[in-house]
Amino acid sequence: MIELQNVSKEFDLRNESAFHALKNVSLSIRKGSIFGIIGRSGAGKSTLVRLINLLEIPTSGTVRVGGVDMTSLSPVELRVARRKIGMIFQGFNLLSSRSVADNVAFPLELEGRGSDEIKGRVSELLELVDLSGKKDEYPAQLSGGQKQRVGIARALAANPDILLCDEATSALDPQTTTEVLALLKEINRKLGLTVVLITHEMSVIKEICEEVVVLDRGEVVESGAVFQVFTRPQSPVTRALVAGVMNQEIPPHFAALDFLQEPEGDCGLLVRVSFLGDTAAEPIISGMVRRFGIDVNILYGAIDHIQGVPFGTLIVELSGNGSRNAALDYLKNLNLGLEVIGYVRRNLESSL
Ligand SMILES: Nc1ncnc2c1ncn2[C@@H]1O[C@H](COP(=O)(O)OP(=O)(O)O)[C@@H](O)[C@H]1O
Ligand SMILES: [Mg+2]
Repeated sequence: MIELQNVSKEFDLRNESAFHALKNVSLSIRKGSIFGIIGRSGAGKSTLVRLINLLEIPTSGTVRVGGVDMTSLSPVELRVARRKIGMIFQGFNLLSSRSVADNVAFPLELEGRGSDEIKGRVSELLELVDLSGKKDEYPAQLSGGQKQRVGIARALAANPDILLCDEATSALDPQTTTEVLALLKEINRKLGLTVVLITHEMSVIKEICEEVVVLDRGEVVESGAVFQVFTRPQSPVTRALVAGVMNQEIPPHFAALDFLQEPEGDCGLLVRVSFLGDTAAEPIISGMVRRFGIDVNILYGAIDHIQGVPFGTLIVELSGNGSRNAALDYLKNLNLGLEVIGYVRRNLESSL
C-alpha cells in the first residue's frame, strides 16, 4: 500500500548548509495493517509522515502509495490522491468557531458536496466515533479524547484508504489514549483502513500496532513485527525505548554485580530465559534439575503482555556439579530465548 524506497530529506538551512532529516529510509506498509513508526523527539517522524502525502517533497528516493509514484503527479492529481489519505494530529487542529458537525463537514464542503449528502455523511461519521450527542457543541466544550474523535471523523469524511496519525494520542491521558486507540483499531477492522501511527510512546505501539519501524536521527535502526522487536530488541535505541514499557530488562542490581572473567570454584552462572506464554516455566526448570544434576535458583521473574500474548522472563542461577553446558543446550533446543549473563560468586541472594 505504502512503499518508501531510499527516501532522503534535506532541509536547506538559512546559513546555506543542509540538515539531513531523513537518510535513506525504506519501508513497506501493507494494506489494511496498523503500522507504527517510533522514535525520540527530532528523529524525523513527522517529516516521514508528511512525505507519505507529499506535504514534504523527498530530496531523493521514491514514495509510492497504492502503486502510484506520488512525486510524478500533477498538482491536480496530487490533490485527488491526498483525499485518499486522512490525517490526525496531536493538537487536533479543529476549527474553534465551528460546531462538531461543521468541523466534520468541512472537508466535504471543500469538495463541493451537496448539503443533504453532507448531512447524511456527517451523522454517519459522528455515529462511528460515538459523538452523535455532541454534534452542536463547539470544540472548547469537549474533552481531549472527544476532540480527537472529531478529528478522526473529519479525517474519514472523504472515505480515505489511509489514516496517518502524527502523535495523535500524545496530548491525552493514558485512559483516553486507550479509548482512542481502541477506536482506531475498530475503524481499521470495520473499514479496512491502513493506519500509520507515529509516536514517541512505546506503549501506543505495543497496544495496537502489528509492525513497527524504529527511527533514530533520520535513519531506520530496526523494523519488524511488534512482538519480535519488543521481545528481541537489537539496537541500543530500541532497547532503551522498550525498557520503559516492558518488565523484561535485566534489573540494574544484576548489571552492577561483579562478574568473573572465568568460572572459578563454586560459582554460579546467571542466565536470562525468555518464553512465550504457553510455555510453562516450571516443568522446564524441574526438567533441567532432574536431567543435568544442577541446582537452579530463580532470582527474578516477570511477565508481560503484548496485545494479549504473554511474554515472560526469568533470571536463574545455575550451580552445582552437573553439566551446565548440557543444561544450556537443553534450553536452546526448547526454543526459548536464552542469554548468558555471566559467572558470579555464590551467595548471590545475600548480596542482592
Ligand atoms: N522545515 C524544516 N526546516 C528545517 N529543519 C526541519 C524542518 N522540519 C523539520 N526539521 C528538523 O528535522 C528534524 C526532524 O523533525 P521531525 O520530523 O519533526 O521530528 P519528530 O517528529 O520525530 O520529532 C528536527 O531536527 C527538525 O528540527
Ligand atoms: Mg513530530
